[in-house]
Amino acid sequence: MTTESPRPLLIVEDDIALQKQLRWSFDQYETLTAADRENALAQIHRHNPAVVTMDLGLPPDADNVSEGFRLLEQILATAPDTKVIVLTGQNDRANALRAIALGAYDFFAKPFEPELLALTIDRAFRLHDLQQENQRLLAMQHPAALAGLLTRDAGMQRVCRTIEKVANSNATVLLLGESGTGKELLARGLHESSANRNDRFVAINCAAIPENLLESELFGYEKGAFTGAVKTTPGKIESANGGTLMLDEIGDLPLPLQSKLLRFLQERVIERIGGRQEIPVDVRIVCATHQDLKSQIADGRFREDLYYRLAEIVVTIPALRERIGDAALLAHAFVRRFANEQKRGSMTLCEEAVRAIESHRWPGNVRELENCIKRAVIMADGSRITLEDIGLDAEKSAEVEFIDLRKVRDDAERNAIVTALGRTNGNLLRTSEILGISRPTLYDLMHRLGLK
Ligand SMILES: Nc1ncnc2c1ncn2[C@@H]1O[C@H](COP(=O)(O)OP(=O)(O)OP(=O)(O)O)[C@@H](O)[C@H]1O
Ligand SMILES: [Mg+2]
Repeated sequence: MTTESPRPLLIVEDDIALQKQLRWSFDQYETLTAADRENALAQIHRHNPAVVTMDLGLPPDADNVSEGFRLLEQILATAPDTKVIVLTGQNDRANALRAIALGAYDFFAKPFEPELLALTIDRAFRLHDLQQENQRLLAMQHPAALAGLLTRDAGMQRVCRTIEKVANSNATVLLLGESGTGKELLARGLHESSANRNDRFVAINCAAIPENLLESELFGYEKGAFTGAVKTTPGKIESANGGTLMLDEIGDLPLPLQSKLLRFLQERVIERIGGRQEIPVDVRIVCATHQDLKSQIADGRFREDLYYRLAEIVVTIPALRERIGDAALLAHAFVRRFANEQKRGSMTLCEEAVRAIESHRWPGNVRELENCIKRAVIMADGSRITLEDIGLDAEKSAEVEFIDLRKVRDDAERNAIVTALGRTNGNLLRTSEILGISRPTLYDLMHRLGLK
């Protein structure tokens, strides 16, 4: 698109004549005006202007600067990136300096030359854009380690941030989540984000290995330790030395092995089966389970002391049905991936299919969705994937929780936008059409709601 809509510039000025003059001078912007503090804040919430010019003397007492300073503080508290240019009276250096100290971008003494103010406003916009760009680039460097993990959901994004934060500590992390929520993906992401990323990531599924083999899998054995032990073999713990060991389905670890694992966590040495030597192992432990360990502890099936060793940091992964907008987002991504793999060219999901995907409960979470789309891509006759191809019922679900009106409104707007973005696969023009709003309004809303 080459025709960019003008950007909002908020002018806070109670002198109507001056307000008009300012609007005139800055007609290259979408000038918004406000004559008092309340109005100014409302405009900021609605349009989120990058730059604001404001008179310090505002009603009810225009000769006093207190209302102006109050507004300045409120603007910077709600929208800290805003560049505020303060207009002061002549010989009012003290207030100008105070405004700068509070975080205003610049000041101008009245009467001012519009050309000079225009230059400052232009510079403020450019600085604002550079800072936004810088933030965007910084944010882009992050997800590298959690590559392949797709989400637009705020809760899931918090999970990702936690994983990145704890990666460089040596805390043991317990990942809790239903099956298919991405526990292994996150454990790998944690390993990739950590200082150990160049060492091995070793995963063992405690539920998939018969109890009598699990001990030798974990701890290894010496040649001749038992019939069939023809050569000395290190276990998974030892082979992850220096790296990360993922103990998947830790809730299924039999009690005798829980004691051995606890001992390892306390001493950081292992003994192979049939061995006499203690071998020091330095390994980062990540565990995962879909079970409720607390109730297992209550039932005497899981050691409480082991729990506290393992659960230094507990990360609860939301189920797919709790993530807003993610089912459609992931579905589109999986269609692209499988269509590619199956050499089917470009394929799309029909609207009905997307809606069914959004309302399905996905008990098997992302894994179930992945399989569903894989199958649909194989089954689809043409390039359009129908409701029938995905084999889900068209459903309706509407659960509303009323908290407070402002939050309900924000949540509703966020949900609608994220859903529409998912449905259009991120196409902003079509998203704005579906929502029945203009594109600039969509941008504003997305910005205000913190959607990228
Ligand atoms: N947010 C996501 N974005 C993209 N792919 C994902 C996401 N979450 C999970 N997946 C994919 O879904 C599948 C299941 O994920 P993963 O194996 O990490 O889940 P899990 O919680 O360990 O499942 P299980 O309990 O069945 O072991 C994998 O193929 C994974 O790559
Ligand atoms: Mg798993």
